[in-house]
Amino acid sequence: MTDKKLWAGRFNQPTDAFVEAFTASVEFDQRLAEYDIQGSIAHASMLAKQGVLSEDERDLIIAGLEKIRRQIAAGGFTWSVALEDVHMNIEAALTEDIGDAGKKLHTGRSRNDQVATDVRLWLRDEIIAIQEEIRRFQQALLQIAEREAETILPGFTHLQTAQPITFGHHMLAWFEMLQRDYGRFTDCSVRMNELPLGAAALAGATYPIDREYSAKLLGFDRPCANSLDAVSDRDFAIEFSAAASILMMHLSRMSEELIIWSSAQFGFITLSDSFCTGSSIMPQKKNPDVPELVRGKSGRIFGHLMGLLTLMKSQPLAYNKDNQEDKEPLFDTVDNLKGCLKVFADMVPEITCNHEAMRNAALKGFATATDLADYLVRKGIPFRDAHEVVGKAVALCVARDCDLAELSLQELQHFNTAIDDDVFDYLTLEGSVAARDHIGGTAPAQVRNAIAAARKRIQ
Ligand code: ARG
Repeated sequence: MTDKKLWAGRFNQPTDAFVEAFTASVEFDQRLAEYDIQGSIAHASMLAKQGVLSEDERDLIIAGLEKIRRQIAAGGFTWSVALEDVHMNIEAALTEDIGDAGKKLHTGRSRNDQVATDVRLWLRDEIIAIQEEIRRFQQALLQIAEREAETILPGFTHLQTAQPITFGHHMLAWFEMLQRDYGRFTDCSVRMNELPLGAAALAGATYPIDREYSAKLLGFDRPCANSLDAVSDRDFAIEFSAAASILMMHLSRMSEELIIWSSAQFGFITLSDSFCTGSSIMPQKKNPDVPELVRGKSGRIFGHLMGLLTLMKSQPLAYNKDNQEDKEPLFDTVDNLKGCLKVFADMVPEITCNHEAMRNAALKGFATATDLADYLVRKGIPFRDAHEVVGKAVALCVARDCDLAELSLQELQHFNTAIDDDVFDYLTLEGSVAARDHIGGTAPAQVRNAIAAARKRIQ
């Protein structure tokens, strides 16, 4: 195949060898080949329908593109840096194969609307794959939430023991985070689903093109309304990266909890050996590498969001070569995001809960102090006064190094005479969680209801 530049007409000197490599994108944008071919097939079909190409030309082009698609899939396609990018590599190979008809494919089109179309087509599919992984992870969370609906551990605020919660409830909190992430990807996908093709270089095409038809062929809801905007807009990439960053922030928070919970000091959970690694020097170590790496990967994905925002912030309309820099951050975001989701969806169902350790931790730190205050409120004492009373009882327990439930009835009554012997029902961990029996509460019954509702929401 000749490496003659498709735009060489007005040039007298060859491209500087370094500049050729410096400006080329084929090394990374060949990843878009399948979408470039889909876009070209739709474009050729539209041109033939409009009488700009003959039906024979169209058929030659489509057969040629399908042949190239097979060559690429089989690894038998030779990519050339001299041909700069995926678009010109494919077009040159087509012309080499089918002759003049191949040269007509680019009628009424520019690489500017072509690349904008390719990236949208690619990202649309990747979002579907990402959303499938989110769903798989959510299913895993529901499964573990069901298994651990009654498992009690301390809930924290400020990483200090706050109130007892159920582990199932905690897993459902993660589920909600992912549910919003799923919705953000849907929003992004819907907003992005407009076709740039037809904008050509920036101002539109002089041929009788039918953009609605091309949009329909490629599964877009409609053509982009403005040609300048169509070729220059990368909002969809930024919006996707923002959604990806929020999801990674969530995965990073979950990672942090898994790391803390699996430490010897907490010992709440055991991660499966298949998701941990050892130390080359300390024989006793079993490190939570997977959650650590996911926590670490959030950094590069936030970085890509910043990178894309900065890429776009000073660009005048319409297309600028700067935009070639949108691809690597996007590819890296997609690859890492999918990897992180996969590893979480695989790892979470393998978590073992150490019920005793969780329970013992919940018994420390006066997790049921609020329950005692609520008990007093039910006996007619204003909440602020009840809060004060319980604070004093806690101070006594701190001095004695015991739990509220270990004080005798007499001792408790010393703080307030409204306290009866039924108080001990409320000071237990089971009583505490069972009492939070409303929508969104931690009671095992509510956790089970929430799981059933969640299953319907993700159907
Ligand atoms: N490789 C280019 C990109 O990724 C394709 C569009 C090039 N257009 C141009 N006028 N140089 O954005």
